[in-house]
Amino acid sequence: MCGIVGYLSYFCPRDRQYVLDTVLNGLSRLEYRGYDSAGIAYDGNTPDETRIIKQVGKVSALKKLVKEQEKDVDFVYQSQFSMAHTRWATHGEPTTSNAHPHRSDSNNTFTVIHNGIVTNYKEIKTVLENKGVKFQTDTDTEVVTKLIKYIYDSQRGRKLEFHRLVKATCRELEGANAFIFKSIHYPNEIVVFRRGSPLMIGIKTDKNLDIDFVDVEFSNDVEISDNKNDIVPDVSAKRAQNHLHSAIGGDNQSIEYFFSSDSSAIIEHTKKVLFLEENDIAHISAKGDLRIHHFQREEGMSSIRSIKTLEMELAEIMKGSFPHFMLKEIYEQPESVFNTLRGRVDFKNNVVTLGGLRSHLSSIRRCRRIVFCACGTSYHSCIATRNIFEELTEIPVSLELASDFLDRQSPIFRDDVCVFVSQSGETADTIMALKYCLQRGALCVGVTNTVGSTISRDTHCGVHINAGPEIGVASTKAYTSQYLALVMMALQLSEDRSSMVERRKEIIQGLRGLPDKIKEVLKLDEQIKAISGSGLHKEKSLLILGRGFNTATSLEGALKIKELAYIHCEGIQAGELKHGPLALIDEHIPIILIITKDCHHSKSISALQQVLARKGQPIILCNTDDKEIPQGYTTIRIPSTVDCLNGILAIIPLQLLSYHLAVSNGVDVDFPRNLAKSVTVE
Ligand code: AGP
Ligand code: GLU
Repeated sequence: MCGIVGYLSYFCPRDRQYVLDTVLNGLSRLEYRGYDSAGIAYDGNTPDETRIIKQVGKVSALKKLVKEQEKDVDFVYQSQFSMAHTRWATHGEPTTSNAHPHRSDSNNTFTVIHNGIVTNYKEIKTVLENKGVKFQTDTDTEVVTKLIKYIYDSQRGRKLEFHRLVKATCRELEGANAFIFKSIHYPNEIVVFRRGSPLMIGIKTDKNLDIDFVDVEFSNDVEISDNKNDIVPDVSAKRAQNHLHSAIGGDNQSIEYFFSSDSSAIIEHTKKVLFLEENDIAHISAKGDLRIHHFQREEGMSSIRSIKTLEMELAEIMKGSFPHFMLKEIYEQPESVFNTLRGRVDFKNNVVTLGGLRSHLSSIRRCRRIVFCACGTSYHSCIATRNIFEELTEIPVSLELASDFLDRQSPIFRDDVCVFVSQSGETADTIMALKYCLQRGALCVGVTNTVGSTISRDTHCGVHINAGPEIGVASTKAYTSQYLALVMMALQLSEDRSSMVERRKEIIQGLRGLPDKIKEVLKLDEQIKAISGSGLHKEKSLLILGRGFNTATSLEGALKIKELAYIHCEGIQAGELKHGPLALIDEHIPIILIITKDCHHSKSISALQQVLARKGQPIILCNTDDKEIPQGYTTIRIPSTVDCLNGILAIIPLQLLSYHLAVSNGVDVDFPRNLAKSVTVE
């Protein structure tokens, strides 16, 4: 997924070096999202000049090129606008030409940066080419720059307000997108549009903000004025507009705005953030006033956009003493698990309270079935908790990979409850599945780690897992917190079942000890590093066997090793061994077998015997006090806990193993090749 950063400063002198550093450092904060090229657009020495510099590769390569090409860094802006982008190519190879910002012509009349996919770009491109418009790149984004210029020119000298021109342009586009528009026709103005991809606005002023919201202006049609050379007033505005700028003082009041796809690029400048909603168009005029427009008022759509205060600190998103974000996040799990539990579990009375579900509990309990829908690691957290959900609630549970669910157009009914699990809350497949279920009247629940994310806002209710920012592309602490949040959801749903009192009490008491037990598991790091360095990192293939509550552990462990060490690794439900995979077992293939003390223990021991009988040399991941494990094999021993919580402890050695294998293989652990932190395109 790409990163978008915009920086506007009004009536406050800033030299060009400061502006370039602010934007490019903001872009660096988004590197974890994955990308292949980057670019920047900024004002020249006059507002009717836009300079663009683009480069393939990392943000550091772009910074180097900017330093080489821009020498007039002492130039002082009284007001300026600059923007930058990291691209994760969807249409057109990762080349300098295809990198963003894209422009409408050689004068940079209109400049755009874009996150998402314009799904109808080919049709628009054909229409414009038939009208003589020439294209220079293979991207869908360039079509947007040519279209906005075409619409502007077709006004034959009349001048729409910038936001109305953008509205007319975006009305023609399909797909999930976020855009920032800049134009030399509208100096010191910016218009942003979001539909399906996140975009937020940080606000920084010398004085406190007088209001904590901005009114939304709803208008259905873009009226084109008959008056020539007029700036067309937005005659359809339905409300007196609270201009944020005027609300915080009159003209010449200095103010700065920071635009980004992600709060980590804003947090070091300001904690005051406004999250744009679907189909919002934000316009900052040449006077520095922020106004929010909208295509048309949807059912239940709020008429204001609140300015929220970000709670996380920059330090939280930095690596600290760890060499990689991923290792930091693995080691954070005692705290992140504690934070997921915090304030939600009354250990004295054995009560679990997830406030976000409270008003929907009876509806969920009455549902015909619960459908979990997610991708990747988040999907594995659903597999891990399906057993306990069905046991405690006695509601049938089905598991859906969002992409396959959509491919099948699976039947969904009003009496279904659909649970969407997503760390980023912005995964395109999961969002599309959510829209599909909303359209069919199902009750939709979100379980996310990102405040203000699309899934957290578009579901009827939900749970925030409170794991803290997860920067590493490979999900670790989010998995254990998702797992825990889902167990807590099952506990809360079943609090009305007298037959489950004792079982619930056992599990709730088991939650209490988790943070300390995770600390115990983390002490195995050196042993696991040694296992990784024993030649395992050179292997081409690796099997991980698990059963029952550890089926998910085997799948999640396999995904970690695949995506980090680039080693083929297959997670196998141990009960399936004799139905085929046993043919793979011999004394050569590396095997990890997970055996924890639960109701599936004897069957897991049986799987172990099958492996040993074929001369397998398994690494056995088992409980410290398990006496049934034969001698002579490498064992990784973890503390025991309640059966349905074993997977939270058992995954941690596999997270560490995948990390060390990746380091041994020279992989850039926080940025594994071809992957992105949040997959916002289908
Ligand atoms: C996890 O290690 C992977 N990077 C990936 O599978 C991820 O879990 C998946 O893309 C879903 O992301 P989400 O939780 O943000 O929806
Ligand atoms: N679809 C656009 C492109 O391929 C934007 C991709 C992105 O979100 O980075 O350039």
